Order: sequence, then structure tokens, then C-alpha cells
Amino acid sequence: MHLPNYQEARKRVAKDYQRVAFSFDRHIQGKYKGKKFYLKTYGCQMNEHDSENIEALLVYLGFIKTADYHQADLVLLNTCSIRENAHNKAFGMLGRVKHLKGQRPDLLVGICGCMAQEASVVDKILADYPWVNFVLGTHNLYQLPNILDKAIEEEKQQIEVFSKEGDLVEGIPVIRANSFKAYVNIIYGCNKFCTYCIVPYTRGSERSRRKEDILKEVDELIQDGYKEITLLGQNVNAYGKDLYEDYTLGNLLEDIAKKDIPRIRFMTSHPWDFTDHMIEVIGKYSNIMPSVHLPVQSGSSKILRLMGRRYTREDYLKLFHQIKKVVPNVCISTDIIVGFPGETEEDFLETLSLVEECKFDNAFTFIFSKREGTPACKLDDFVPLAEKEERLQRLNQVVNSYFLQNNLALVDQVVPVLVEGLSEKKENMYFGYSDTNKLINFTCNHKIMVGDIVLVRITSAKTWSLDGEEVE
Ligand code: 5AD
Ligand code: SF4
Repeated sequence: MHLPNYQEARKRVAKDYQRVAFSFDRHIQGKYKGKKFYLKTYGCQMNEHDSENIEALLVYLGFIKTADYHQADLVLLNTCSIRENAHNKAFGMLGRVKHLKGQRPDLLVGICGCMAQEASVVDKILADYPWVNFVLGTHNLYQLPNILDKAIEEEKQQIEVFSKEGDLVEGIPVIRANSFKAYVNIIYGCNKFCTYCIVPYTRGSERSRRKEDILKEVDELIQDGYKEITLLGQNVNAYGKDLYEDYTLGNLLEDIAKKDIPRIRFMTSHPWDFTDHMIEVIGKYSNIMPSVHLPVQSGSSKILRLMGRRYTREDYLKLFHQIKKVVPNVCISTDIIVGFPGETEEDFLETLSLVEECKFDNAFTFIFSKREGTPACKLDDFVPLAEKEERLQRLNQVVNSYFLQNNLALVDQVVPVLVEGLSEKKENMYFGYSDTNKLINFTCNHKIMVGDIVLVRITSAKTWSLDGEEVE
């Protein structure tokens, strides 16, 4: 048994880890043929991509996927720790699964993802959920086949969570959710330790994948006909710093942009690591999409300091305007937290005024959520919840008004759209995303395929989507 430990997780490992190739244990291949698994994924794109690995590992064992957990022989929750409500959702699901397990004691239940890395969660599982068959951490996800097999063979709860990162494992099999757009991890973990954030504890130190491994994966995706890749990391802008003297995200983007791939995206970018070179590269290549997710978190320099964000309001605005200046037609989205401990009405008004200046194209807004073990958890928090909720509402009204305003400016323009599917609402209606990552519903009178990139004239705008018609 390996239990998670925050003291250990806090220690950075820098470069003392190895890169090793994944290999399957052949004697368990197909061992559970015909059994069904139900996989529920919570949280970010990193988790979504991990679930693509989980699916492939389970299929190797012989499992097949079901969308109905009542039909499943294995229920696996790939969890998220970022805010309390993510926790609540996973525990709510466990409650429903407990009911099912009461009826079918042979049902297997597993927990993986970020919550598995939290000592308090694992303590709770040990104490109150003895019927959960296994808990598997983010650093050793690749061990899923063996741990699942052991839980079945030994009929004993398995808790296998490494607090330290261990090796960086290349070549974990994957079954991708899409045939035209793909996630590619470029860096794991985060070293920023923003004071509210649990990610550096659950995902470990920044560890970049070797550029050769990334470029090889991209080549394979191109060969398989993929049209869009999204480079993933908790902070992609730190790419390469732990590995190379002189090779960063700008270099990687440039090397990928020279390949025959129509669309490249990347997320998420911490403003601290955004260099002029990266901005220049994003502006230079037409296959790097003009879409940047640049979380600001707060418009108040005082709160940014308490958050440990390493930039001021002025630094952020300077970077924002620099990106807007250099990257033609760029859309910038953001994340904002309201109600951070110590946030006064004046601080909040500074956030509103920053939003008014930046007029973001999209924004994810949250009320601060205390995460056990993070420094912000210990700060005095004197703002009542009702006031935080009211701030969130006021903020949402302002951000939403800019989404609509920006979308209205696109009416009559022609934009490239990657077709993602047929709309369920109407015949000849399709949907897809523009280069700037806006959802477009459009009509087209001739046959087009998912994965095609077509030109669409925008006819009308809503807050969260646009309507249009394909132009031949
Ligand atoms: N409370 C509220 N929001 C948070 N985020 C991260 N940690 C917390 C927290 N403790 C938000 C940040 C981050 C996004 C992924 O989630 O805005 O950018
Ligand atoms: Fe969390 Fe900050 Fe790292 Fe983002 S940059 S994952 S908010 S610690």
C-alpha cells in the first residue's frame, strides 16, 4: 500500500526522474474479456486525456466500455480536486455506486485522478468506504492493469498512490475520443504554487516530455489524419525549462507549426512564463490558432500578491496588449476567482475594471474554494458567502456582455470552422469551432464530413455561440 503524503508532494524533484517506455504485462492481456467498464471523468482536459489512456489500458485487459453504470462490472471515477464542488460530485457518485454495490457485491469500484492524491480523501476512503476496491494516483496511472488485477485476485482493497512523481512514462496506450482532434501532453505538473491551488500537490513538479517524443506523437497524428492538436499542460509556457538550456514553448510551437497540421492549440498559459518569442511565433504561423487562454485570476495587484501569482495587474495588462498587438485577430480567454481571502469591494472593482479593459472573449469564473493543505486555506476569510455569490453574479454579467459584444463584431465575417458534428436540432445544420475557438452552428447544403475545415459566413451572434452559413 502507498498512501499520499502532502509533505512529500511539496518537495520538488527537479531532474532526478527517468523517462521509461511503457510495457504491458502480457499474462493479463484479455484476462477480463467481455467485462464492462463505466468511466466517469471530472475536471480538466488533462483528466480527459488521462481517461483516453485509461480506456486503452482497460481494453487491453479485455474490458468493453458502457455508458450506463448500472450495466458495468467496473465503475471507475477519474476525479478532480480543483474546487470543493468537484469533490462533492465524485462523492455523490460514490453514494449512488454504493447502492448498486449493495445489490451486486461483485461490482468493482475504483478511484483515480487528483482526489486520489489527497491524503484526506484517502483517509476517508480507508475509514468509510472499505468497499471501494482500489485507489490509484495520478503518477502511477499506467499501473492500472496490474493494480486492478491484484484487487480482483487478492480480493483486498488496493491503495497505490505515489506522492513523488516517479518516472515519466512514455508510450502509454491511448484510445482517443475523437478522430480529428487530439490532445498531446507536453509538460506534467506545476511549480508555481499559487496559494489557492491544489494542482502542484496532486500533479507534482513540472516535468517536460522530450521534444523528440512530442514531435513523434504529432507525426503519428498527422499520419492518422488528425486536423487539430492541443498541446496540454498545467502551465505549457514553462515547457522545456526543466529539460533544456535553450528550447521553450516558442521553439516547440515553431517546430510543430512547420509540419503539415492545420490547427495547433495550447493550454494553459501562466502569464509569468509568456515570452516575446512565444508571442512572435504564435503571430507568425497561420496554423497556430489565434486563441490564448491566459488566466488573470484577479484585477487587484494586492490580491494577485496574496495569490502568489508573480505578476501585477499592470504586468498582466502589458502582456495582454502585447499579444493583441502581435497576433492578428487573436481571442483571449481567462479564468477569474472572486472572494479570495482579503478581497475587498475595491479589489473586486479592480477586477471588473480589468475585465472592462480586456473585454475577454471567454472567461471561466469561480468563487474561491478552500483546498486543504494549500496556504490560502489558512488565510482569514472575512467575506460572507452571500457577498461572494453576489460578486460572481456581477462579474458574470459584465463578462457575458463582452462575449456578446465580441461575437456581434463577427457578423458578416467569414471564418474557418473545423466541423465537429451534425446538429441534432435541424437538417443540414452542423457545428464546429472557429480558429478563435468560438462555437459556430451553421447550415451547409452539400455533404461535408466531421473533421473538414470549411468557411462559414456569420449571420447572427449569441452570447456563447454564433450562427452562420457555409460559403463555397
Ligand atoms: N478556488 C477557486 N477556483 C480555483 N481555481 C484553481 N484553484 C481554485 C480554488 N481553490 C481556478 C483557477 C484556475 C482554474 C483552472 O481553476 O481560476 O485557473
Ligand atoms: Fe494552479 Fe497556479 Fe499552477 Fe495554474 S499555475 S495549476 S493556478 S498553481
